[in-house]
Amino acid sequence: MTGPLKNGDPLAYFSGIVHKYGDIVGVRILTFRVFILNHPDYIEDVLVNHPRKFIKGRILKANKRVFGQGLLTSEGDFWLRQRRLAQPAFHRARIAGYASTMVEYTERLLDEWRDGEERDLHSEMMRLTMQIVSKTLFDANVERDAQDVGRSLERLLEIGANFRRTLFVPQWLPTPTNIRLELAVRQIEKVLYRIIAQKRASGRDAGDLLSMLLAAQDDDGSGMTDKQLRDEAITIFLAGHETTANALSWTWWLLAQNPAIEAKLHEELRTLLGGRAPSLDDLPKLVYTNHVITESMRLYPPAWGTARTAIEDHEIAGYKVPRGSGVSFSQWSVQRDPRWYEAPEEFRPERWEGDLMKRLPRFAYFPFGGGPRQCIGNSFALMETALILATIAQKFRFRLVAGHPVVPLASITLRPRYGIRATLESRATETGEPAYMESGTRVDS
Ligand code: HEM
Repeated sequence: MTGPLKNGDPLAYFSGIVHKYGDIVGVRILTFRVFILNHPDYIEDVLVNHPRKFIKGRILKANKRVFGQGLLTSEGDFWLRQRRLAQPAFHRARIAGYASTMVEYTERLLDEWRDGEERDLHSEMMRLTMQIVSKTLFDANVERDAQDVGRSLERLLEIGANFRRTLFVPQWLPTPTNIRLELAVRQIEKVLYRIIAQKRASGRDAGDLLSMLLAAQDDDGSGMTDKQLRDEAITIFLAGHETTANALSWTWWLLAQNPAIEAKLHEELRTLLGGRAPSLDDLPKLVYTNHVITESMRLYPPAWGTARTAIEDHEIAGYKVPRGSGVSFSQWSVQRDPRWYEAPEEFRPERWEGDLMKRLPRFAYFPFGGGPRQCIGNSFALMETALILATIAQKFRFRLVAGHPVVPLASITLRPRYGIRATLESRATETGEPAYMESGTRVDS
């Protein structure tokens, strides 16, 4: 057992401790014992071979007022029933219909952007993915409601940015932060329950995720209660919005620093799309674009760490993991391990060109987790990231603002602490497309 996890940088802590002590190390966090795992096989042992011996970690559990019994936090048979009910809503064929929404919202964002303007790319990506998830979750006809929910959830996210505090400050204590959290939750619930009631009354499947969850029925004919639908809607919103925004933000930041890679990406987009909007059918052909995303999520995994609590005694690599203790592992440190990746700190999308993915141990690359609790929004997220990347990269490139610090913050997701400030550079003159003048008037170049 080594010393406690200090309130400093968890990424450096994870990487440092495994570098010093090896693939499994016991640490103490206050009175709580945690085993940090750094070998893909040990991670597979927990997530795939023995998932029933573990439940989700304490930070997520501490946020029950927000997530309720949603997919991310529920356990056992209850979780399994919910997962079965929700799975068809995330089926590839079902989410295919969202591709045009994703592109349309991205184009709307680009209509606001002007050449030479400075913006925070992370805020822009957060706004975009928030709009997309609100729309696909709740449907176009309730756009205003979706925006209200979105705004309250944004507030929740701000509060949630410091999720670790919930380990030390219980959510029932009437602190100012907890009161703000409670107010935001109540506001969301009010709107959500109204949307649910409207959807139940109309009985119409408008193609959105919530309609699908509402219509889902178990073998015995039972569906989800309103409370359950509320929990799943909030969970999907929170799990699906900031993660995807982070993936995109880090990708833009990496591309801006690697002009040769950026040029190769532009070339692929030019050859395959020639300036038109990407569609779902294009995605399998955008091979390099996909490698860029894979590599970006290797270096900057939006879900940077995973925690579980043992509910039975277990043994990993000769170490006794007693019931009640924690296990923890970090995508950040495993995906930067030189045993699996040559020059692991370098951004090299080309490394994925061969059969690396097949050769790697299964859990040497796991941005979406694995086993039964693997991300249900995996395909949704990959489709969204690729479509947004291909739409934006054809129209703009970014020049990073000198002196602005870009620092990863390992909150519940891995976000840029101070955002990513960049100057927008229109690619219109390069691609020979019509450019926008300062006033926003379209002119032919
Ligand atoms: C790049 C984007 C994303 C990343 C990196 C990501 C990552 C993850 C990871 C690592 C887990 C497993 C957590 C654990 O084992 O404790 C997870 C679970 C989950 N994710 Fe994602 N996610 C992303 C996008 C999305 C999207 C777009 C949605 C929904 C639209 C979503 C919904 C969920 C849900 C509901 C769970 C819980 C699943 C369950 O336990 O049954 N995620 N995600």
